[in-house]
Amino acid sequence: MNIIIKDSAADASAAVADVLLRQLAHKPGSVLGLPTGGTPLGVYANVRQAHEQGRASFASATTFNLDEYIGLPAEDPASYAHYMRENLFAHVNIDLDRAHIPSGMAEDPSIEAARYEALIAAHGGIDLMLLGLGRNAHIGFNEPGSAHDSRTRRVSLTPSTIEANAGYFEPGARQPSHAITMGIGTILECRKIVVLATGLEKAEAVAASVNGPSSEDVPGSALIWHPDTTFVLDRAAARHIERAKIRELEA
Ligand code: PGA
Repeated sequence: MNIIIKDSAADASAAVADVLLRQLAHKPGSVLGLPTGGTPLGVYANVRQAHEQGRASFASATTFNLDEYIGLPAEDPASYAHYMRENLFAHVNIDLDRAHIPSGMAEDPSIEAARYEALIAAHGGIDLMLLGLGRNAHIGFNEPGSAHDSRTRRVSLTPSTIEANAGYFEPGARQPSHAITMGIGTILECRKIVVLATGLEKAEAVAASVNGPSSEDVPGSALIWHPDTTFVLDRAAARHIERAKIRELEA
């Protein structure tokens, strides 16, 4: 596990965008895993700008989003399909047939989850996965208690996650209580993982994930087992990482 600590959230976002741009430059046909939420907005802004300036092409890329709310159609402004169109897909030269997101409207979410898992495998797995980290250390929508070998599946959201995401819904709109998420086992199979976490409200989740011990109560701590994971943090999110851990990682 590597840790990169930047002075600001903007610098951390730029560093993660750079990893994505370098991945695309090195392998234009990369398979990318993509997150949603507040944290990656700066990453996507950097990537859009790079694309405008001719420094990034998605012409041969394939993407798999981590998760989607059950019960929200792709047109719903709170859906992750909508988020991805607004923040990335509508602004870059990606073939939308290769930009995959689980369907929140599938009649049987278990069948949709199995289809998604098989599609990732059919593409040879994910080269680079970008992740955010929930305040409760969730990755994707793998809430505390998720098995570290879990696969893509239907999950219930915890009250704290529902509360953390309430701001993305119009007042009075029905907020889903379930989602389809890539499993932790699915995520651990990605060849390279970059976790972006910024702000003091993520400091405890970062510390619990990085300091260990690895436990199902802390989904982010599953990443300790992955051979190529980098946490990119701002100073606030890094605040509670043990000094000894930083020295060990710097050694
Ligand atoms: P946030 O979500 O970026 O909106 O804080 C992160 C996550 O839940 O993975």
